Amino acid sequence: MSDGSKSSTDNVPKTLDDLNAMRRAGKPIAMLTCYDFPTARLLAQAGVHILLVGDSAAMTVLGQDSTATATLDYMCLITQAVRRGALGSFVLADMPAGSYEVSEQAIATAGRLRAAGADAVKLEVDRSQMHIVEALAGAGFVLCAHLGLLPQRVKTEGGYRAYGRTRSEAMEIIETAVAMRRAGAAMLLLEAVPDAVSEAVISQVDCVVLGCGAGKSCHGHVLVWHDVLGFTAKPAKFVETFADVPAVMLQAAQRYVAAVMQRQYPAAKHEYSMKEPLGESWSQLIANKPKR
Ligand code: KIV
Repeated sequence: MSDGSKSSTDNVPKTLDDLNAMRRAGKPIAMLTCYDFPTARLLAQAGVHILLVGDSAAMTVLGQDSTATATLDYMCLITQAVRRGALGSFVLADMPAGSYEVSEQAIATAGRLRAAGADAVKLEVDRSQMHIVEALAGAGFVLCAHLGLLPQRVKTEGGYRAYGRTRSEAMEIIETAVAMRRAGAAMLLLEAVPDAVSEAVISQVDCVVLGCGAGKSCHGHVLVWHDVLGFTAKPAKFVETFADVPAVMLQAAQRYVAAVMQRQYPAAKHEYSMKEPLGESWSQLIANKPKR
């Protein structure tokens, strides 16, 4: 496949230090989910600062009804594809549900994602999992602790809703954020929380705080790429759709079907020519061809 694109990855952060420099300089960080090679190339070209290989791929790409079904093999496969498409980008990969139950397993999981090309790994945590974060950080992994709405648990705890809207829930998120930072998380991601909670977290920690529906105070923001493109029928309140890509894809598929049915495709320009004359026996072969 030819590479017609010009990458602008020289301008994007490549390390945690680069991201922290953006935070200190007050430059907002733009992160998008990314699950495949061609999209990774485009997002790198567009100057997206972090590519998140999210387990949301289980829903957006595979059509499953929860992120909890993503497997580690699948996450490694798509992390490799994203890395191949965005050699110079900062790639953050999700640790899938069930892959970080105990410290040894978490370290092995993070190791596989790192070998697949991830610069950092993200895990959905509560305070009972501080020892996992400590173990991962101690083993040298760059970690992002995901707090607030935890999509891997929506079927078992609370469903899709905003978190931290009461004082006690807000305090729980803020205290967990501080505890995770102390345990060694290098970044935090807050999902579906009020801006007031994000602002309070940011005042308590000295690291990049990314928001997914967590208000303007966050250092960076992430959206699911398929939401951005308009593939989601009923997106969450915080989603902004930036294009109607399904309409373009539908039109392309309809035009293709019509071209085939009207015998406009394939045309002569799409055909390979023979390199030598076919001869008399060939004409007989054609003549004997069974009729459809
Ligand atoms: O997997 C994912 O897309 C995520 C975002 C919701 C932050 O974790």
